[in-house]
Amino acid sequence: MSTNLSDIRRSYEQGALHRRDLDPDPIKQFEKWLSEAIAAGQVEATAMFLATATKDGRPSGRVVLLKRVGVDGFVFFTNYQSQKGQEIESNPQVEACFFWDKLERTVRVHGRVTRASETESEEYFHKRPRLSQIGALASNQSNPVENRQVLEQQFADLEKRYENNDIPRPAHWGGYVIAPETIEFWQGRPSRLHDRLRYVKHSDTWQIERLAP
Ligand SMILES: Cc1cc2nc3c(=O)[nH]c(=O)nc-3n(C[C@H](O)[C@H](O)[C@H](O)COP(=O)(O)O)c2cc1C
Repeated sequence: MSTNLSDIRRSYEQGALHRRDLDPDPIKQFEKWLSEAIAAGQVEATAMFLATATKDGRPSGRVVLLKRVGVDGFVFFTNYQSQKGQEIESNPQVEACFFWDKLERTVRVHGRVTRASETESEEYFHKRPRLSQIGALASNQSNPVENRQVLEQQFADLEKRYENNDIPRPAHWGGYVIAPETIEFWQGRPSRLHDRLRYVKHSDTWQIERLAP
């Protein structure tokens, strides 16, 4: 048995990407595209697929949310002891990919990850809704858990323990910054002749090249 999906196809006709339209700074270009995706009503426009790999090259992927972008890179928050956290700690090379179907665009970011500052992690943790803070404490992310009830009991216990107090950020929860080395902007075009323009970092300057689709 198999499911044949070969008839599902769509022609991409929303726009075009020319080199002359690009900002010399890829972070500014990214911010422009992200705000256009949000304005177009893209659901979860800040969601990115994040690929990590073990030291010996076994890949894994999942979705995380971008929480800040700046000159230092792309920031997301997670559990440092999760699968992605462990892989990043032994191999800091990652790739993140945004897909904005409303505008038929993707952005691919390749780079090296470092931990965000304690101050940034602390500030963001306490800005999250209280129940999300408790959730972070209750979840031993990526580890097997006996059943859902165990998880809910841990959550309830913690809710009670911190009833009238601030919830402390666990030391194993915080931010990661992807310092980009390449950033590719992809705009879908008809006949599969898509536009792909990639910024490549050479010391402190960015060079732009067009890639075949
Ligand atoms: C839209 C969306 C946003 C998510 N955002 C995050 C996030 O910001 N941080 C995070 O740790 N997990 C996030 N998750 C859950 C992850 O996809 C994943 O299940 C979890 O981080 C465990 O991944 P790992 O076992 O590979 O480490 C998100 C999932 C979805 C669907």
